[in-house]
Amino acid sequence: MQLTRRRFLAAPAALSAALLPTSLLAALEAETPPMADLSTWEAVRAQFALDPAWMHFASFFIASHPAPVQAAIDGYRRAIDRNPYFTVEHGMFSEGAGNLHVQAQAEIADYLGARPQDVCLTGNTTTGLALVYQGLPLQAGEEVLCTKHDHYSHHESIRLAVERAGASMRRVPLFEDAASATTDSIIDALLKGIGPKTRVVGLTWVHSSSGIRLPIREIAAALRARPGPPLLLVVDGVHGLGSTDETVATLGCDYFCAGTHKWMFAPRGTGLVWASADNWARLRPLVPSFTDFDQYQAWEKQQPPASPTTADRMSPGGFHAYEHQWAAAAAFRMHKQMGRARVAARIRELNDQCKAGLAANPKVTLHTPMSGALSAGLVSFEVDGLAPADVVRQLLARNIIASTSPYVVSYARLAPSLVNTSEEVERAVRAVREISG
Ligand SMILES: Cc1ncc(COP(=O)(O)O)c(C=O)c1O
Repeated sequence: MQLTRRRFLAAPAALSAALLPTSLLAALEAETPPMADLSTWEAVRAQFALDPAWMHFASFFIASHPAPVQAAIDGYRRAIDRNPYFTVEHGMFSEGAGNLHVQAQAEIADYLGARPQDVCLTGNTTTGLALVYQGLPLQAGEEVLCTKHDHYSHHESIRLAVERAGASMRRVPLFEDAASATTDSIIDALLKGIGPKTRVVGLTWVHSSSGIRLPIREIAAALRARPGPPLLLVVDGVHGLGSTDETVATLGCDYFCAGTHKWMFAPRGTGLVWASADNWARLRPLVPSFTDFDQYQAWEKQQPPASPTTADRMSPGGFHAYEHQWAAAAAFRMHKQMGRARVAARIRELNDQCKAGLAANPKVTLHTPMSGALSAGLVSFEVDGLAPADVVRQLLARNIIASTSPYVVSYARLAPSLVNTSEEVERAVRAVREISG
């Protein structure tokens, strides 16, 4: 491990300057091209190298890198390959504006409405959830309450953490039928599920099973207003981030975990956790950090760090694919240039069109709420007499890429996103009509 980190050792500026050839800085900056014109959806779609032979309705699964993100990855990769030591040493451990890790935190924080120092960079949603649940100081006899609708990664993160702590987990249904759920019925079901041992509540913002978007802001307010011990709210937000016009840091949850390699179009293998300083301080870190100076200094003295846990201390250390981690900033810049409200409105427009088209088909059962306030970018449905996998297969035969939801009860999914056109949505709806007979 390289021990002369300027950020860690807080070396005087003169030393930093002496270590870092200015030509490297200039070369690194030259590798970051200006943002493309993203003023029309056609221009946005042109940023993706997607195979035009297919209609891509499963882009939420894993991102195709759009041109600005690919350019940033390529630029950082060229810089690392030219000079691995200087580029990583500077990009990770230098003081000030040239620190690319800090730059990525700042870009992400700006989009989340958060402070940069409260953004923890992870590799994906799953790692973020695991870090949070394993980090919580759960006691024997305490309970984590989650729902029957959460993803495998969420349930298993909780199970592994409670097993270790001698705590327990419980899953409650928030609805029988997502399509007819309301904000009140969801809150009611959740509040009824809370028991005397519940200390933590785990929820999913946009469900990849039914496509419902939980009203997290209203749920968080209801949890705060109830009598009894305060509960911590952990949210898997992966399918809401980049599809919804929300300020994550004021949503009301205590821990927000998301991959950024789906709706945000950040490099594959990137993600984040956001929490407030107080909530970071509750957690016990799991993996040695490479971005927390206090932890490093305490190690030098052979002591545990005396300061509270922070986002940086929770960020898993070890060297990473830095060209991907740093280029996450370009994806957040791209989203800011497109406009969060404009992106959300476009995704809603295409999903409304998709839902209206499918709902007009008597052979289709829609599982996603029609309301744009209770849904986002995913439309889940069944076709009478056909297994979800058969629906997907028959759509594939028409060059339409749909997906099935990876849950015990599975549905077919179409996810209209920024890479799609209204004409493509119409063709997908027509194709479902054809296969439903
Ligand atoms: C709701 C939900 N949570 C978590 C995940 C896992 O995401 P990641 O690959 O970022 O860990 C998925 C996968 O698509 C998901 O649908």
